[in-house]
Amino acid sequence: MKKGFVFDLDGVITDTAKYHYIAWKNLADKIGISIDLEFNEQLKGISRMDSLNRILAHGGKENDFTEAEKAELAAKKNTEYVALLQGLTEKDLLPGVAEFLAEAQKLKVPSAIASASKNAPFILEKLGVAADFVGIVDPNTLKKGKPDPEIFIRAAEILNIQPEEAIGFEDAPAGIEGIKKAGMFAVGVLASEPLTGADITVHRLDELSIPDLLKK
Ligand code: BG6
Ligand code: MG
Repeated sequence: MKKGFVFDLDGVITDTAKYHYIAWKNLADKIGISIDLEFNEQLKGISRMDSLNRILAHGGKENDFTEAEKAELAAKKNTEYVALLQGLTEKDLLPGVAEFLAEAQKLKVPSAIASASKNAPFILEKLGVAADFVGIVDPNTLKKGKPDPEIFIRAAEILNIQPEEAIGFEDAPAGIEGIKKAGMFAVGVLASEPLTGADITVHRLDELSIPDLLKK
């Protein structure tokens, strides 16, 4: 019997990937690197600095900046990203999320957030769902990012359950890999193509029956 839920944020609870893309594209343009939506797929689920490093490598500029300059570039991107998030409201929850979280609350199944985003607390407040989560793993405290299972194991600790008792929700291949390495049941969300390794894939969370899911 499963006892709790562990959610990725970007692409599962809300679609912030478009805002990450706008902010990264503007920054990349300024330093003479061209990125497109297809390339942006690679940035899903990975940390801010890992994203910057991938963009620099994509443009052949991985050795052109000092660590301090890279920190400045990442901060600049984040300032623009946070400005784009100001208008978020509960209308920006992905379809089916509000219904699923309300049902989980009704059935007293606890949920935690396992997101690489340092902006997760702010985003959950804006979306009006912060109170639906027992806690959020602080990505600043992690040794390794996804696909390492650390973030998911820490989320199970927050829920006070074993990883095997948790169900993880993810939209990115790196996240599904981390969920499976942690020993959790993996639900792949919103994938246009099946997410390799996911135990099941859905387009919206309210396709799922929570009582059935807990029996997995
Ligand atoms: C993940 C996103 O959730 O968070 C990535 O999928 C993003 O695209 C990462 O880079 C870090 O986010 P932030 O808000 O800390 O820059
Ligand atoms: Mg995601």
